[in-house]
Amino acid sequence: MRIDVITIFPDYLAPLREALLGKAIDRGRIQVDVHDLRTWTHDVHKAVDDSPYGGGPGMVMKPQVWGEALDAVCGDEAPRLVVPTPAGRPFTQRDAVRWSAEPRLVFACGRYEGIDQRVIDDAAERMPVEEVSLGDYVLVGGEVAVLTMVEAVARLLPGVLGNPLSAEQDSFSDGLLEGPCYTRPEVWRGRPVPDVLRSGNHAAIDRWRRDRALERTWYRRPDLLAALPEGTLTARDREQ
Ligand code: ADE
Repeated sequence: MRIDVITIFPDYLAPLREALLGKAIDRGRIQVDVHDLRTWTHDVHKAVDDSPYGGGPGMVMKPQVWGEALDAVCGDEAPRLVVPTPAGRPFTQRDAVRWSAEPRLVFACGRYEGIDQRVIDDAAERMPVEEVSLGDYVLVGGEVAVLTMVEAVARLLPGVLGNPLSAEQDSFSDGLLEGPCYTRPEVWRGRPVPDVLRSGNHAAIDRWRRDRALERTWYRRPDLLAALPEGTLTARDREQ
């Protein structure tokens, strides 16, 4: 997969080259190119923003600069363009799974009040465009959102995670939150590991894990339970 990120703060994306993602880049599983938006400015100040039509606080990112940047980075291809914005629809694991099947993703990081809407409307005539939000809070710009989304996508690519089963057993993969997990020692500060996990009875362990996942989801994210497709919960699940 090839990933391009366009930003006015290329250094902000440096963590992409660390740890698991860095290894995936070194092994050639992902190619990541970070582009400085100011490359496509033509004035001495390298201005990327201007005051908003209609007035109001803040600045808006200029369409000319973004237009040229997207033309140059996308070329004749029509990669999926992702624009992080608090005004987008919520980013979910389902998006990460869907995007992980793409050959190429381009991320456009906005700052200030956002990017002139015509940039997005113009791009949408040539490529699929998605405006997505990390959550109901406002960040200073799209860069941290891109780090998050790229990590969520990259760990799903074959050969990136050490253990591919980890991705399959994630929170959200079955629509539920994952329950608690434990490792050695057997007793820590007087707190024992639940007996069933040391029983060797795999059916009982699976049942226990499912029950804890249901319980946790019920308390923390009842919206997820309500959104499960009809028939997902068994009669046994419902007793829980
Ligand atoms: N940019 C600023 N806030 C954001 C958010 N919540 N999600 C995605 N991009 C953003």
